[in-house]
Amino acid sequence: MKISKRVLSGIQPTASMVHLGNYLGAMRHFLELSKESESLFCVVDLHALTTVKDSEALKNNCRSLTAAYLSIGLDPNAVTLFQQSHIPEVCELAWYLGCQLSSSTLEKAHAYKDAKASGRTVNAGTMYYPLLMAADILLYKATAIPVGADQKQHIEVARDIAQAFNFHFGDVFPLPEPLIPEEGAQVVGLDGRKMSKSYDNYIGLFEEPKKITKKIKSILTDSKTGEEKKDPESCAVFKLYRLFASAAETENLAERYREGGLGYGHAKLELAELVLAQIEPIQASWHDWMSRPDDMADLLKEGAAKARQIAGETLAETREKLGVGL
Ligand code: TYM
Repeated sequence: MKISKRVLSGIQPTASMVHLGNYLGAMRHFLELSKESESLFCVVDLHALTTVKDSEALKNNCRSLTAAYLSIGLDPNAVTLFQQSHIPEVCELAWYLGCQLSSSTLEKAHAYKDAKASGRTVNAGTMYYPLLMAADILLYKATAIPVGADQKQHIEVARDIAQAFNFHFGDVFPLPEPLIPEEGAQVVGLDGRKMSKSYDNYIGLFEEPKKITKKIKSILTDSKTGEEKKDPESCAVFKLYRLFASAAETENLAERYREGGLGYGHAKLELAELVLAQIEPIQASWHDWMSRPDDMADLLKEGAAKARQIAGETLAETREKLGVGL
Protein backbone atom coordinates (compact mmCIF):
# COMPACT_ATOMS: atom_id res chain seq x y z
CA MET A 1 0.00 0.00 0.00
CA LYS A 2 1.59 3.24 -1.14
CA ILE A 3 0.91 6.04 1.32
CA SER A 4 1.77 9.52 0.20
CA LYS A 5 -0.16 12.60 1.23
CA ARG A 6 -3.28 12.94 -0.87
CA VAL A 7 -5.77 15.67 0.05
CA LEU A 8 -9.49 15.26 -0.59
CA SER A 9 -12.53 17.19 0.48
CA GLY A 10 -16.13 17.64 -0.58
CA ILE A 11 -19.01 20.05 -0.11
CA GLN A 12 -22.70 19.34 -0.56
CA PRO A 13 -24.54 21.38 -3.21
CA THR A 14 -27.57 21.78 -0.95
CA ALA A 15 -27.98 25.54 -1.37
CA SER A 16 -27.65 28.16 -4.06
CA MET A 17 -24.29 29.17 -2.62
CA VAL A 18 -21.75 28.25 0.05
CA HIS A 19 -21.66 30.30 3.26
CA LEU A 20 -18.90 31.84 5.32
CA GLY A 21 -18.79 28.73 7.54
CA ASN A 22 -17.93 26.55 4.54
CA TYR A 23 -15.39 29.10 3.39
CA LEU A 24 -13.62 29.72 6.69
CA GLY A 25 -13.88 26.18 8.05
CA ALA A 26 -12.86 24.33 4.92
CA MET A 27 -12.45 26.05 1.55
CA ARG A 28 -9.98 28.69 2.66
CA HIS A 29 -7.50 25.91 3.42
CA PHE A 30 -7.97 24.06 0.15
CA LEU A 31 -5.86 26.47 -1.86
CA GLU A 32 -2.74 26.34 0.34
CA LEU A 33 -3.00 22.53 0.66
CA SER A 34 -3.40 22.12 -3.09
CA LYS A 35 -0.12 23.94 -3.60
CA GLU A 36 1.83 21.43 -1.54
CA SER A 37 0.04 18.09 -2.16
CA GLU A 38 -1.88 16.16 -4.75
CA SER A 39 -5.49 17.25 -4.17
CA LEU A 40 -9.00 16.27 -5.13
CA PHE A 41 -12.09 18.40 -4.49
CA CYS A 42 -15.56 17.16 -5.06
CA VAL A 43 -19.09 18.47 -5.54
CA VAL A 44 -20.90 15.80 -3.51
CA ASP A 45 -24.24 15.80 -5.30
CA LEU A 46 -25.16 12.24 -4.26
CA HIS A 47 -25.02 13.28 -0.62
CA ALA A 48 -27.19 16.30 -1.41
CA LEU A 49 -29.96 13.98 -2.60
CA THR A 50 -30.71 13.22 1.03
CA THR A 51 -32.28 16.69 1.21
CA VAL A 52 -32.62 18.27 -2.25
CA LYS A 53 -35.72 17.11 -4.13
CA ASP A 54 -35.65 19.51 -7.09
CA SER A 55 -33.49 18.56 -10.09
CA GLU A 56 -33.19 22.12 -11.44
CA ALA A 57 -32.15 23.44 -8.05
CA LEU A 58 -29.59 20.66 -7.72
CA LYS A 59 -28.09 21.45 -11.14
CA ASN A 60 -27.86 25.15 -10.27
CA ASN A 61 -26.38 24.41 -6.86
CA CYS A 62 -23.74 22.20 -8.50
CA ARG A 63 -22.80 24.99 -10.91
CA SER A 64 -22.60 27.50 -8.10
CA LEU A 65 -20.38 25.21 -6.03
CA THR A 66 -18.09 24.43 -8.97
CA ALA A 67 -17.72 28.17 -9.55
CA ALA A 68 -17.03 28.60 -5.83
CA TYR A 69 -14.18 26.09 -5.92
CA LEU A 70 -12.70 27.87 -8.92
CA SER A 71 -13.22 31.35 -7.49
CA ILE A 72 -11.08 30.67 -4.43
CA GLY A 73 -8.20 30.19 -6.83
CA LEU A 74 -7.95 26.41 -7.25
CA ASP A 75 -6.13 25.66 -10.47
CA PRO A 76 -8.16 23.03 -12.35
CA ASN A 77 -5.02 21.84 -14.11
CA ALA A 78 -3.23 21.23 -10.83
CA VAL A 79 -6.08 19.77 -8.74
CA THR A 80 -8.71 17.19 -9.58
CA LEU A 81 -12.05 18.96 -9.43
CA PHE A 82 -15.00 16.67 -10.03
CA GLN A 83 -18.60 15.84 -9.33
CA GLN A 84 -19.32 12.80 -7.17
CA SER A 85 -22.08 11.38 -9.41
CA HIS A 86 -19.70 11.31 -12.40
CA ILE A 87 -17.84 8.49 -10.66
CA PRO A 88 -20.28 5.56 -10.31
CA GLU A 89 -17.53 3.48 -8.66
CA VAL A 90 -18.19 5.35 -5.42
CA CYS A 91 -21.56 3.64 -4.93
CA GLU A 92 -20.11 0.20 -5.51
CA LEU A 93 -17.37 0.82 -2.99
CA ALA A 94 -19.93 2.15 -0.48
CA TRP A 95 -21.66 -1.24 -0.62
CA TYR A 96 -18.44 -3.15 -0.02
CA LEU A 97 -17.58 -0.86 2.88
CA GLY A 98 -21.06 -1.12 4.37
CA CYS A 99 -20.54 -4.84 4.69
CA GLN A 100 -17.58 -4.15 7.02
CA LEU A 101 -19.45 -1.81 9.36
CA SER A 102 -21.82 -2.47 12.21
CA SER A 103 -25.21 -0.87 11.59
CA SER A 104 -25.15 0.51 15.13
CA THR A 105 -22.30 2.84 14.13
CA LEU A 106 -24.60 4.45 11.58
CA GLU A 107 -27.45 4.66 14.09
CA LYS A 108 -25.15 6.44 16.54
CA ALA A 109 -23.84 9.02 14.05
CA HIS A 110 -24.70 12.54 15.24
CA ALA A 111 -26.14 13.80 11.93
CA TYR A 112 -28.53 10.86 11.82
CA LYS A 113 -29.47 11.22 15.49
CA ASP A 114 -30.10 14.96 15.02
CA ALA A 115 -32.30 14.27 11.97
CA LYS A 116 -34.31 11.71 13.92
CA ALA A 117 -34.63 14.00 16.94
CA SER A 118 -36.17 16.69 14.71
CA GLY A 119 -39.25 14.48 14.41
CA ARG A 120 -39.18 14.48 10.59
CA THR A 121 -39.19 11.23 8.61
CA VAL A 122 -35.55 10.35 8.00
CA ASN A 123 -34.64 8.73 4.69
CA ALA A 124 -32.24 5.80 4.57
CA GLY A 125 -29.74 7.93 2.62
CA THR A 126 -29.31 10.11 5.70
CA MET A 127 -28.37 7.01 7.66
CA TYR A 128 -25.96 5.76 4.96
CA TYR A 129 -24.45 9.21 4.62
CA PRO A 130 -21.20 8.45 6.53
CA LEU A 131 -20.76 5.29 4.49
CA LEU A 132 -20.86 7.16 1.20
CA MET A 133 -18.49 9.74 2.64
CA ALA A 134 -16.08 6.96 3.66
CA ALA A 135 -16.29 5.68 0.08
CA ASP A 136 -15.50 9.20 -1.22
CA ILE A 137 -12.35 9.24 0.83
CA LEU A 138 -11.17 5.65 0.53
CA LEU A 139 -11.87 5.32 -3.21
CA TYR A 140 -9.05 7.80 -3.80
CA LYS A 141 -6.91 6.54 -0.92
CA ALA A 142 -6.95 10.07 0.44
CA THR A 143 -4.98 10.65 3.63
CA ALA A 144 -5.60 14.31 4.54
CA ILE A 145 -9.18 15.57 4.74
CA PRO A 146 -9.57 19.33 5.33
CA VAL A 147 -12.96 19.90 6.98
CA GLY A 148 -14.71 21.82 9.75
CA ALA A 149 -15.13 20.25 13.20
CA ASP A 150 -18.61 18.90 12.40
CA GLN A 151 -17.11 16.32 10.01
CA LYS A 152 -14.71 14.77 12.53
CA GLN A 153 -17.00 11.89 13.40
CA HIS A 154 -17.53 11.04 9.73
CA ILE A 155 -13.80 10.75 9.19
CA GLU A 156 -13.50 8.54 12.25
CA VAL A 157 -16.08 6.22 10.65
CA ALA A 158 -14.00 6.17 7.44
CA ARG A 159 -10.92 5.25 9.51
CA ASP A 160 -12.79 2.49 11.33
CA ILE A 161 -14.05 1.02 8.07
CA ALA A 162 -10.60 1.18 6.48
CA GLN A 163 -9.11 -0.59 9.50
CA ALA A 164 -11.78 -3.30 9.47
CA PHE A 165 -11.33 -3.86 5.75
CA ASN A 166 -7.53 -4.00 5.97
CA PHE A 167 -7.74 -6.40 8.93
CA HIS A 168 -9.93 -8.90 7.10
CA PHE A 169 -8.63 -8.65 3.57
CA GLY A 170 -5.13 -7.18 3.72
CA ASP A 171 -3.93 -3.61 3.38
CA VAL A 172 -5.73 -1.61 0.75
CA PHE A 173 -6.73 1.66 2.39
CA PRO A 174 -4.46 4.19 4.13
CA LEU A 175 -6.09 5.72 7.23
CA PRO A 176 -7.40 9.24 6.54
CA GLU A 177 -6.68 12.08 8.97
CA PRO A 178 -9.00 15.06 9.45
CA LEU A 179 -7.34 18.47 8.98
CA ILE A 180 -9.43 20.74 11.18
CA PRO A 181 -8.31 24.39 11.37
CA GLU A 182 -7.47 25.86 14.78
CA GLU A 183 -9.33 29.03 13.87
CA GLY A 184 -12.66 28.56 12.10
CA ALA A 185 -13.35 24.94 13.03
CA GLN A 186 -16.85 25.99 14.01
CA VAL A 187 -17.82 29.37 12.59
CA VAL A 188 -20.73 31.04 14.36
CA GLY A 189 -23.83 32.26 12.57
CA LEU A 190 -26.00 35.34 13.02
CA ASP A 191 -27.64 33.91 16.15
CA GLY A 192 -24.41 32.70 17.77
CA ARG A 193 -25.04 29.02 16.97
CA LYS A 194 -22.94 27.17 14.41
CA MET A 195 -23.40 28.80 10.99
CA SER A 196 -25.53 26.39 8.99
CA LYS A 197 -27.90 26.25 6.05
CA SER A 198 -30.40 24.38 8.20
CA TYR A 199 -30.47 27.06 10.94
CA ASP A 200 -30.92 29.82 8.35
CA ASN A 201 -28.36 31.87 10.26
CA TYR A 202 -25.75 32.11 7.53
CA ILE A 203 -24.03 34.74 5.43
CA GLY A 204 -23.69 33.54 1.84
CA LEU A 205 -20.22 34.00 0.37
CA PHE A 206 -21.71 35.42 -2.83
CA GLU A 207 -24.54 37.48 -1.43
CA GLU A 208 -24.86 41.11 -2.49
CA PRO A 209 -22.58 43.34 -0.37
CA LYS A 210 -25.62 45.31 0.83
CA LYS A 211 -27.32 42.13 1.98
CA ILE A 212 -24.17 40.96 3.76
CA THR A 213 -23.92 44.29 5.60
CA LYS A 214 -27.60 44.03 6.55
CA LYS A 215 -27.09 40.50 7.87
CA ILE A 216 -24.01 41.53 9.84
CA LYS A 217 -26.02 44.35 11.41
CA SER A 218 -28.56 41.74 12.51
CA ILE A 219 -26.04 39.57 14.42
CA LEU A 220 -27.41 38.81 17.87
CA THR A 221 -25.53 40.49 20.74
CA ASP A 222 -26.29 41.14 24.40
CA SER A 223 -27.94 44.42 25.36
CA LYS A 224 -24.88 46.25 26.75
CA THR A 225 -24.72 49.97 25.90
CA GLY A 226 -21.84 51.48 23.93
CA GLU A 227 -20.23 52.77 27.11
CA GLU A 228 -20.16 49.42 28.92
CA LYS A 229 -17.14 47.10 28.99
CA LYS A 230 -17.67 43.96 26.91
CA ASP A 231 -16.30 40.46 26.69
CA PRO A 232 -15.03 39.89 23.12
CA GLU A 233 -14.84 36.11 23.50
CA SER A 234 -18.58 35.79 24.04
CA CYS A 235 -19.58 38.01 21.12
CA ALA A 236 -20.44 36.57 17.68
CA VAL A 237 -19.35 39.82 15.98
CA PHE A 238 -15.88 39.51 17.46
CA LYS A 239 -15.68 35.79 16.74
CA LEU A 240 -16.32 36.45 13.06
CA TYR A 241 -14.03 39.49 12.98
CA ARG A 242 -11.02 37.54 14.24
CA LEU A 243 -11.39 35.07 11.35
CA PHE A 244 -10.81 37.82 8.82
CA ALA A 245 -8.49 40.15 10.74
CA SER A 246 -4.73 40.11 11.33
CA ALA A 247 -3.48 39.33 14.86
CA ALA A 248 -2.86 43.05 15.48
CA GLU A 249 -6.33 44.06 14.27
CA THR A 250 -7.90 41.34 16.42
CA GLU A 251 -6.03 42.46 19.54
CA ASN A 252 -6.94 46.07 18.86
CA LEU A 253 -10.67 45.29 18.64
CA ALA A 254 -10.50 43.02 21.72
CA GLU A 255 -8.92 45.86 23.66
CA ARG A 256 -11.68 48.27 22.65
CA TYR A 257 -14.33 45.72 23.71
CA ARG A 258 -12.73 45.38 27.13
CA GLU A 259 -12.21 49.12 27.66
CA GLY A 260 -15.82 50.09 26.97
CA GLY A 261 -16.88 52.94 24.70
CA LEU A 262 -17.33 50.76 21.63
CA GLY A 263 -20.91 50.03 20.60
CA TYR A 264 -21.87 46.78 18.90
CA GLY A 265 -23.19 48.78 15.95
CA HIS A 266 -19.75 50.17 15.34
CA ALA A 267 -18.04 46.77 15.70
CA LYS A 268 -20.50 45.36 13.17
CA LEU A 269 -19.62 48.05 10.63
CA GLU A 270 -15.92 47.29 11.06
CA LEU A 271 -16.66 43.60 10.56
CA ALA A 272 -18.72 44.27 7.41
CA GLU A 273 -15.96 46.42 5.94
CA LEU A 274 -13.34 43.75 6.56
CA VAL A 275 -15.46 40.87 5.22
CA LEU A 276 -16.47 42.71 2.07
CA ALA A 277 -12.92 43.79 1.27
CA GLN A 278 -11.64 40.22 1.58
CA ILE A 279 -14.35 38.46 -0.35
CA GLU A 280 -14.67 41.04 -3.12
CA PRO A 281 -12.14 39.35 -5.50
CA ILE A 282 -13.69 35.92 -4.81
CA GLN A 283 -17.14 37.26 -5.58
CA ALA A 284 -15.91 38.83 -8.84
CA SER A 285 -14.30 35.56 -9.93
CA TRP A 286 -17.43 33.58 -8.99
CA HIS A 287 -19.63 35.83 -11.14
CA ASP A 288 -17.22 35.39 -14.01
CA TRP A 289 -17.25 31.57 -13.73
CA MET A 290 -21.04 31.55 -13.39
CA SER A 291 -21.25 33.19 -16.81
CA ARG A 292 -19.22 30.30 -18.30
CA PRO A 293 -21.23 27.12 -17.54
CA ASP A 294 -19.85 25.25 -20.56
CA ASP A 295 -16.26 25.85 -19.48
CA MET A 296 -17.12 24.55 -16.02
CA ALA A 297 -18.80 21.46 -17.49
CA ASP A 298 -15.64 20.77 -19.52
CA LEU A 299 -13.44 21.14 -16.46
CA LEU A 300 -15.63 18.75 -14.48
CA LYS A 301 -15.43 16.21 -17.30
CA GLU A 302 -11.64 16.41 -17.27
CA GLY A 303 -11.65 16.12 -13.49
CA ALA A 304 -13.89 13.05 -13.63
CA ALA A 305 -11.53 11.36 -16.09
CA LYS A 306 -8.61 11.89 -13.68
CA ALA A 307 -10.65 10.77 -10.66
CA ARG A 308 -11.98 7.69 -12.44
CA GLN A 309 -8.47 6.54 -13.20
CA ILE A 310 -7.69 6.31 -9.47
CA ALA A 311 -11.19 5.01 -8.65
CA GLY A 312 -10.88 2.17 -11.16
CA GLU A 313 -7.56 1.03 -9.73
CA THR A 314 -8.82 1.05 -6.14
CA LEU A 315 -11.98 -0.76 -7.06
CA ALA A 316 -10.13 -3.47 -8.97
CA GLU A 317 -7.87 -4.03 -5.96
CA THR A 318 -10.86 -4.06 -3.60
CA ARG A 319 -12.83 -6.55 -5.70
CA GLU A 320 -9.86 -8.86 -5.88
CA LYS A 321 -9.38 -8.81 -2.10
CA LEU A 322 -13.09 -9.47 -1.56
CA GLY A 323 -13.29 -12.16 -4.22
CA VAL A 324 -16.06 -10.53 -6.25
CA GLY A 325 -16.32 -9.55 -9.91
CA LEU A 326 -13.53 -11.95 -10.89
P1 TYM B 1 -21.00 20.32 4.17
O1 TYM B 1 -21.45 20.51 2.77
O2 TYM B 1 -22.01 20.31 5.24
O3 TYM B 1 -19.94 21.39 4.55
C1 TYM B 1 -18.79 21.61 3.73
C2 TYM B 1 -17.60 21.96 4.60
O4 TYM B 1 -17.87 23.15 5.34
C3 TYM B 1 -17.60 22.91 6.72
N1 TYM B 1 -18.51 23.73 7.53
C4 TYM B 1 -18.12 24.49 8.54
N2 TYM B 1 -16.90 24.72 9.06
C5 TYM B 1 -16.84 25.58 10.11
N3 TYM B 1 -17.92 26.20 10.63
C6 TYM B 1 -19.16 26.01 10.14
N4 TYM B 1 -20.20 26.66 10.67
C7 TYM B 1 -19.31 25.11 9.04
N5 TYM B 1 -20.37 24.66 8.32
C8 TYM B 1 -19.86 23.81 7.40
C9 TYM B 1 -17.84 21.43 6.93
O5 TYM B 1 -17.18 20.96 8.08
C10 TYM B 1 -17.29 20.87 5.64
O6 TYM B 1 -15.88 20.71 5.73
N6 TYM B 1 -20.16 15.47 4.71
C11 TYM B 1 -19.60 16.67 4.13
C12 TYM B 1 -19.37 16.56 2.64
C13 TYM B 1 -18.53 15.41 2.20
C14 TYM B 1 -17.13 15.28 2.38
C15 TYM B 1 -16.77 14.06 1.72
C16 TYM B 1 -16.18 16.04 3.05
C17 TYM B 1 -18.96 14.33 1.48
N7 TYM B 1 -17.90 13.54 1.20
C18 TYM B 1 -15.46 13.60 1.71
C19 TYM B 1 -14.85 15.58 3.04
C20 TYM B 1 -14.51 14.38 2.39
C21 TYM B 1 -20.60 17.79 4.40
O7 TYM B 1 -21.74 17.57 4.63
O8 TYM B 1 -20.10 19.00 4.24
